[in-house]
Amino acid sequence: MKVLTTVEAFREWRRGAADPLGFVPTMGALHAGHFSLMEHARAECAAAVASVFVNPTQFDDPDDCRNYPKTWETDLALAREAGMDAVFAPSFEALYPDSYTYRVTETGRSPTLEGEHRPGHFDGVLTVVLKLFQIVAPGRAYFGEKDWQQLDLVRGMAEAFFLPLEVIACPTVREADGLAMSSRNRRLSVAARERAPELYRALVESATAAAARGRLAAAGFSVQYVEDAGTRRLAAVELEGVRLIDNIPLSETPCAAVGDAAPNLTGAAL
Ligand code: PAF
Repeated sequence: MKVLTTVEAFREWRRGAADPLGFVPTMGALHAGHFSLMEHARAECAAAVASVFVNPTQFDDPDDCRNYPKTWETDLALAREAGMDAVFAPSFEALYPDSYTYRVTETGRSPTLEGEHRPGHFDGVLTVVLKLFQIVAPGRAYFGEKDWQQLDLVRGMAEAFFLPLEVIACPTVREADGLAMSSRNRRLSVAARERAPELYRALVESATAAAARGRLAAAGFSVQYVEDAGTRRLAAVELEGVRLIDNIPLSETPCAAVGDAAPNLTGAAL
């Protein structure tokens, strides 16, 4: 497995790589969710690449960026085990020669949900993903459904800019108790880790988003949002200062079981 840190070195490697190239963009701190994305890329493409880059432009809180878990050696071991042909791990200077003076902004759906609580977040995500797509030139790019709004916006960007690639969605990977896999889970205390699966349970078991909000607040979560939008129920909470997000299909909620119409609160393609 090649580890490449400059745009020039990556492009040199790319010239000899087979097509279609599968791509899994990550911020490192790899876990079973990333492993599943890499397995899909490996199985469905002729060659596969993961990137590891903690993208500062998508963090609205600099402390959150500083505290983001960094596990470089285990990341490389996992990428190797998943059969990646290369890992692209550029520096900020390599990826942002413009110092982020150029950026991609989606103005319709990105100000809602995550975007409302994390100003500028999706500008940073879409900008770095577009940069990575330009360098990696994948035929297929793999994103987890856990970051549903990100997936929706990346898909929209690929369509809007006629990017010659397929965006592939992969299901959320969960711990045995239902907690969605996330790099941030490592920051939960033992006590918070025990309470965290209540987020998933509240989403699945509540008849309405409002009921889920109430249940989570009563359980001591600081609730940023729980909303039914399009086909999904989406939520973000904080537990002992650690931010957790999750989403499930509305078809898995009691709301679907009793046949309630799901409101599309964002008016979006979510
Ligand atoms: O989902 C993530 O880990 C990040 O948002 C991504 C897509 C790698 C962009 O930095």
